[in-house]
Amino acid sequence: MPKKYIPFIPEPVEGQAVLANFNRVLKYKGANDVSMVLERGMPLYEMEKVETVGKNENGNMVIRGECVSACAYLKEQGIEVDLVYIDPPFASGADYAKTVYIRRNPKVAEAIATAEQELDIEELKAFEEKMYGDVWNKEKYLNWMYENLMAIKSVMSQTASIYVHLDYHIGHYVKILLDEVFGEASFRGDIAWCYSGGGIPKHELPHKHDTIFWYSIQPNTDEWNDQWVYNPEYRSYSQGTMQRGRTQVKGENAELRAEGTPINDWWTDIPKITSPTDPEKLDYSTQKSEALLSRIINLSSRNDMVIADFFGGSGTTAAVANKLGRRFIHCDIGINSIQTTRDRLVADGAAFDILEIKDGVSLYRNPVQTMDKIKSLIPGLRNEDSLDSFWEGAVSDSKLGTIPVYVPNLMDSGSKLLDVVLMNRIIHQAIPDLDPNIKKVIVYYVDITSEEEIRKFIAEDDSTDVEIELRDLKAILDDVVVEDYAEVKLEESHEDLFGGFEVIIEKFASDRVMQKISDFNQKAFLNSSAKKPYKPIEISEDGLELIEFLSVDCTSDCGEWHSDSEIKIDKLGYVIKNGEKTKEFWDGKIRSQKKPLRLKIRNICGDETVWAVS
Ligand SMILES: C[S@@+](CC[C@H](N)C(=O)[O-])C[C@H]1O[C@@H](n2cnc3c(N)ncnc32)[C@H](O)[C@@H]1O
Repeated sequence: MPKKYIPFIPEPVEGQAVLANFNRVLKYKGANDVSMVLERGMPLYEMEKVETVGKNENGNMVIRGECVSACAYLKEQGIEVDLVYIDPPFASGADYAKTVYIRRNPKVAEAIATAEQELDIEELKAFEEKMYGDVWNKEKYLNWMYENLMAIKSVMSQTASIYVHLDYHIGHYVKILLDEVFGEASFRGDIAWCYSGGGIPKHELPHKHDTIFWYSIQPNTDEWNDQWVYNPEYRSYSQGTMQRGRTQVKGENAELRAEGTPINDWWTDIPKITSPTDPEKLDYSTQKSEALLSRIINLSSRNDMVIADFFGGSGTTAAVANKLGRRFIHCDIGINSIQTTRDRLVADGAAFDILEIKDGVSLYRNPVQTMDKIKSLIPGLRNEDSLDSFWEGAVSDSKLGTIPVYVPNLMDSGSKLLDVVLMNRIIHQAIPDLDPNIKKVIVYYVDITSEEEIRKFIAEDDSTDVEIELRDLKAILDDVVVEDYAEVKLEESHEDLFGGFEVIIEKFASDRVMQKISDFNQKAFLNSSAKKPYKPIEISEDGLELIEFLSVDCTSDCGEWHSDSEIKIDKLGYVIKNGEKTKEFWDGKIRSQKKPLRLKIRNICGDETVWAVS
């Protein structure tokens, strides 16, 4: 349960539209006689510091958790942000996947290296796994987005701006939400980021731009115009313009115009990252380019200001903010985002804390994969086409027949709490829509206001004979996380002139990765043909090719992690040592000067396990 709910805004703004999930009107017992308004606010959970990287004197943060809960934490701590960029899911109807590359086994790495160097990257043994889902219906998406925008607004400083990056899927609707949340007078611009590349659709015009809406906290009026940061940027005049003398403009702006043409809201000079060989390219779908973020951060912030991205993905905003001498807050719900950002910032020599919001949900990598997994963990749960989408599916019982099952959507914080409003909806909307032969339903919850209160509410309502069983989803989620297995040996190092220690990894096994590989192999088999024969992915006995990252903590044997030495193995098998790229292949060991107390291994799907080293 959250420790408390923090109001989104001190006072609701007069005349502002308030969506259903803010003020939830409760009407029950079939009449309009009982109604109440619930104002829940942002859920504040315990926050755990899981790692500090470097001497973090500037309070930089990488937060794993949902945007709304991260804002609750910042608000509670009195931390304000001066510039926000968000590139949230677009409601594009897609599930974004990450390509997972099997690494080279260190024992045979050198021998196969030469042959593999001639192969295309994409030909390396790889499979895909879901990172985050973008599949929403419009109403749910807008309610969710409204909540996020309100939360973000509540932590913005008085001079702050926000840039919201969207596209044709939902941008026009969100513009109206932005007007509601920030006020029409705070609208600063509608930037078209134009790019080339990508597919050409058959029956419509190719979509070649995204829209970035820019708002400031303060309204765009004479009184407030110096209260927000705007550093105009200029593009140098072309040779032709100079020759034609077009720069000689008289009047009040003459001095400014001497610097070049001011950039406008039509950005055609920043390409999209598309090529797999782009030096910036990380394994993160929807990664935006550093040039795009540099422009935004330069336009709307000054040195030392706090730049926040609450849907941070691969960490572009944090990385650019750091390079430009700003402070940063990165937040994302997915483990791949946190790891990608962490490793990226380590390589840049940044200092920061990694924090985790303890919202009681043990996520299996990210909400999409967890939702998929839940379906396989609820015994007997199957899809049931005849049921409304409110129900996740149904289980069968020999006496009771079909039992519909409700599971909260982990991608939508609004649905995680079971309160009387949700129960009222179940009793008065969802159950009456069911087949009249249904005798029982099962309702899973993550948080519950009070089990006693909900049970009393059900008992007092005489409008349904359908039995309602309540079950805690957290019990199932806890089972989802199964640790990996490793056999390791600690030795004093003889190779290093300065002595030190080495941890040798002799064997590594990961059921969670093997499950993915076996699913992939099965699919590949089904899709194979004589022309395209089936090439299963095989993993060696010692399993070292399933390792992506290792770190040893020589400082402490419990609590917050200190990475005293770390190795990352890139998809081609080259080693990145403490953030520095090398042309060496991994030799199956990790070395450190001081004696390691703990070892952390991240597998190629991003699951991390920690072992004591002795
Ligand atoms: C389009 S991507 C951002 C890409 C990023 N701009 C970059 O350059 O890599 C959107 C991100 O939002 C994250 N996300 C989705 N729902 C979230 C939520 N409620 N709170 C925080 N992050 C969320 C996803 O995990 C995903 O990484």
